[in-house]
Amino acid sequence: MKITVQTLMKLAQEGQKITMLTCYDASFAATLDEAGVETLLVGDSLGMVMQGADSTLPVTLEDMAYHVRCVARGARNALIIGDMPFGSYQESPQQAFASAAKLMQAGAHMVKLEGGAFMADTTRFLVERGIPVCSHIGLTPQYVNTFGGYRVQGKSEDDAARIRADARALADAGASMVLMECVPAALAGAITAELPVPTIGIGAGPEVSGQVLVIYDMLGVYPGKKARFVKNFMPEAGSIAGAVKAYVHAVKNGSFPAAEHCF
Ligand code: KIV
Ligand code: NA
Repeated sequence: MKITVQTLMKLAQEGQKITMLTCYDASFAATLDEAGVETLLVGDSLGMVMQGADSTLPVTLEDMAYHVRCVARGARNALIIGDMPFGSYQESPQQAFASAAKLMQAGAHMVKLEGGAFMADTTRFLVERGIPVCSHIGLTPQYVNTFGGYRVQGKSEDDAARIRADARALADAGASMVLMECVPAALAGAITAELPVPTIGIGAGPEVSGQVLVIYDMLGVYPGKKARFVKNFMPEAGSIAGAVKAYVHAVKNGSFPAAEHCF
């Protein structure tokens, strides 16, 4: 059955974990879909894992549309999320709509944007015009130059309060999901408990509605440094399809992420 925004809401309400993996091509899309991964994120991480760049900033809207098209051809039931690349949405709600429309026309069912409460107006603008939004807060990799590196966010009380207010503002603005990257598990749990929409975590602990990993990280293909929150599912599974199934199983039964993957 086709996964919709309503399916995700229902899973979260029933306390069933939502699974998400990044995906960049048709063959992986078919494999992930077959394994029951509900949401495929065509992430701008493709700039790093496919294009070899040292950040996500060089990725263009055309790059994203191309990969969304590839994934859409391979997926059957999964909900496809297209990541809005750096420079394609920050200027204005109008700019964001024009960019998001290209990803929707390429086959996305939802778009993801980085940024907190100041993205609420843009989020509302898109949602009112038929584009579901996944918000991305906490460690937002497009801000690597202002953060000065990839670090856990929300460790101080002030930062935690700000992230919490960001999540609320984005949900109020109509976001369908809120993705949190590299925040303390306790903060992500508190936000999940008070939000009316599902949350997705990466390095955000187990107390969220669902989990995401970069597919090349969870298969141990990416040659870069392995982040604390990553688990390589390949050794125990022995095949790509097996590793993906093991991931789905581990997320669904709550055994991933374990304490060693959390902040
Ligand atoms: O681009 C990406 O893969 C992402 C996830 C890491 C959340 O944004
Ligand atoms: Na991204």
